[in-house]
Amino acid sequence: MRAIEIRNKYLNFFKAHGHSIIPSSPLIPENDPSVLFTTAGMQPLVPYLLGEEHPAGTRLTDYQKCLRTNDIDEVGDNRHLTYFEMLGNWSLGDYFKEESIKMSFEFLTKELGIPAEKLSVTCFDGNEQLPKDELSASIWEKEGIPRERIYFLKDNWWIAGETGPCGPDTEMFYDTGKPKCSPECNPDCDCGKYVEIWNNVFMEFFKKEDGTLETLKQHNVDTGLGLERMAMLLQGKETPFDTEIFKPVMDKLQELQQEDLIESRRIIAEHLRSSIMVISDGGRPSNLDRGYVLRRLIRRMIRHMNKIGINLNELGNLIDINVEALKELYPDLEKNKEQIKTVIIEEKDKFVKTLDKGEREFYKDINKLKQEGKDLVPGEIVFRLYDTYGFPPEVTRDLSQENGMKISMEEFDKLFKEHQAKSRAGAEQKFKGGLASTGEQETKYHTATHLLNAALKQVLGSHVHQRGSNITAERMRFDFSHDSKMTDEEKKQTEDLVNKWIEDAIPVEKLEMKKDEAIAMGAEAMFIEKYGDIVTVYKIGDVSLELCGGPHVENTKELGHFKIKKEESSSSGVRRIKAILE
Ligand code: SER
Repeated sequence: MRAIEIRNKYLNFFKAHGHSIIPSSPLIPENDPSVLFTTAGMQPLVPYLLGEEHPAGTRLTDYQKCLRTNDIDEVGDNRHLTYFEMLGNWSLGDYFKEESIKMSFEFLTKELGIPAEKLSVTCFDGNEQLPKDELSASIWEKEGIPRERIYFLKDNWWIAGETGPCGPDTEMFYDTGKPKCSPECNPDCDCGKYVEIWNNVFMEFFKKEDGTLETLKQHNVDTGLGLERMAMLLQGKETPFDTEIFKPVMDKLQELQQEDLIESRRIIAEHLRSSIMVISDGGRPSNLDRGYVLRRLIRRMIRHMNKIGINLNELGNLIDINVEALKELYPDLEKNKEQIKTVIIEEKDKFVKTLDKGEREFYKDINKLKQEGKDLVPGEIVFRLYDTYGFPPEVTRDLSQENGMKISMEEFDKLFKEHQAKSRAGAEQKFKGGLASTGEQETKYHTATHLLNAALKQVLGSHVHQRGSNITAERMRFDFSHDSKMTDEEKKQTEDLVNKWIEDAIPVEKLEMKKDEAIAMGAEAMFIEKYGDIVTVYKIGDVSLELCGGPHVENTKELGHFKIKKEESSSSGVRRIKAILE
């Protein structure tokens, strides 16, 4: 069964069971600077899991584009992916364990045709805070999974980050039929006998900063099924790289390569797909946060192309092949293809220069070492070349050896691990922050964003549309389409308008309506196709009407005084304003 068929079956199955199909959120979370990428289907739904009413109801299903880069260095083996698609269904205070497990079992066995004998499941084993989840186990047993294939594990608990909605989960595993690696072998084991396919989280708690659990006002179900993995299993393949999602690119790489290294081919194919998906959703390489993740993906891909001797001029061709393989799943890719190519090829050109520069720096360093009579390149130099110039450590190693020098890769590894631990801690911090509820100050900035958008339209013209926004408790940033630098006069007029609306004390109303109706009323929306049929619209008097998930203040008078701090270019045809509320 092809991936697209699995996705369609999934969505249709849950639709038939009363779920509304909602669209995938972008890979780059909107209005949420504190999260790098969307990492799970539940992420955009956090406010609803916490009790806010979802306009599409209490039963939802979707496919969600996800990127997880914690294990980026593992890519190349037979299973790790950075980008993946998560199919999910949610109960927002609607059904709970029984119905959730029954539907999962029915979907796996009837819709996908997986024999029940191939399934094993795990349930929460309990801890100091909560009892063992006997209920889930007994439901599985009733459905037809015998006790010996129901395992209780301490790890069956799911939370995104450190705090937020969470709960015990029950996980489903596909038994590949390989022999147990030991008598203790269970679904928790990494030997490859069991492959995790689906996770149903019974999200009835909220974990607070101090580690205690609070019972949510509603019991939710949050599930996630990995599409690539399911496609692999149903097609009887050993790795996701053998499915139709990756195969065309993998075959092309095999044809082009000078050296036969499967890990490198997988890294290239995997990182190419992730880069395409990130760029298509608006990501651009840079040295910061999201941009840096994308930069790493592209550069790692290029290093491996060099490693197995693939001409970098083949990139355009490889992008064509990959988009062709993916466009059925993601029709937008076809439309964004030329842009994707431009971004990847520009980054490749930059990286080629980096490699040249790094090589020159390398020779400066080793000539100095040689003059000092040393024959060892310390890890510190390897790290500095890597950290400052982006020069790949393995290239430093090869060059050192070619130049008759020894090299301390252990020392480099140590420095690298320290650096990684720091950035990982940073990324986790960010994810955690993103799931925390929106604070009072951020809420004000959300509303100020709508006013600014409306003011810019009046001052500069109706061609102004929002291109992005980023809010922290300290300031707002707003990107919009406009070709030239704003004059001081235009900035002043914009500020004055926003401040006038604040002084006018206009109520902010939250409305729900059909998407078509909102469009007919002229509501602003950044990605109209991203919204479901019923949308939430915020109306600020006759000043502004925008599709938005909120939250917002109740009256503009709460905002204080609005001030533009900076107006600058963001990218071609897009300007950026940084502003504060005082
Ligand atoms: N949030 C859970 C996961 O990511 C289930 O969707 O596995």
